[in-house]
Amino acid sequence: MSAVKLAPSILAADFARLGQQVTEVEHAGADRIHVDVMDGRFVPNLSIGPAIVQSIRRVTQLPLEIHLMISDPDFFLDAFAAAGSDSFLVHWEGSNNLHRTVQRIRALGKRAGVAINPATGSGVLEEIVQDLDQVLVMTVNPGFGHQQFLRTTLPKIGRVRELVDRLKPGCEVEVDGGIDATTAPLVVRAGATVLAAGSAIFGAREGVAAAMTRVRTALNHTALNHIDDETEAAEQSALQRSQRCSSE
Ligand code: DX5
Ligand code: ZN
Repeated sequence: MSAVKLAPSILAADFARLGQQVTEVEHAGADRIHVDVMDGRFVPNLSIGPAIVQSIRRVTQLPLEIHLMISDPDFFLDAFAAAGSDSFLVHWEGSNNLHRTVQRIRALGKRAGVAINPATGSGVLEEIVQDLDQVLVMTVNPGFGHQQFLRTTLPKIGRVRELVDRLKPGCEVEVDGGIDATTAPLVVRAGATVLAAGSAIFGAREGVAAAMTRVRTALNHTALNHIDDETEAAEQSALQRSQRCSSE
């Protein structure tokens, strides 16, 4: 589980000192920066444009992952690419020609990902996953930070993991929404390897470094418990084998 990547979502950062906050999470070991872009149409909120991406590009070496919660994402790919983005997550629900959009992202030399909303089934990824570097399972409805994690999405994360392993091993499975020290172990056990988290990191009173440590510690505990479970299962089956041998 040490391979799990953390992607702090700057939607929850203090925008008055955004550069500083990005530097803080970079020093605290963030793997990438998650940038939420909203247009007031696809979701009922407005957020970040290419100018902000250009500014944060200057203060961090980390990959910038752009989550486009907008209708017709094709119109904005060039501007965000020119601003220094490294990858794009476009919504299945917001794209009329998803295959074309994904090819356009690849032609720009960027990593491509497709996001699905809580009410969208994993099966829609079947015909596009082979062209993707990552998929994003929304664990809240998109549009706002600090919402409650939807537990009903857990089995779907498992189904997406199975689909990815079958059709495009190596494609990342990311989750987004309501991720904190309690829910992170659940989604990782379900099959996620990249966690976007906003309020659990930038909203933490003890600061971003301590907040990230808290999430990582929770993941490590789960990993240890998992190893304990596996060891116990192996011991049980060894015992059963030796009992069978001695009764034969
Ligand atoms: C929600 C955004 C998320 C958001 C997550 O629409 O896509 O990336 O920042 O915020 P938290 O982690 O607070 O749920
Ligand atoms: Zn997001």
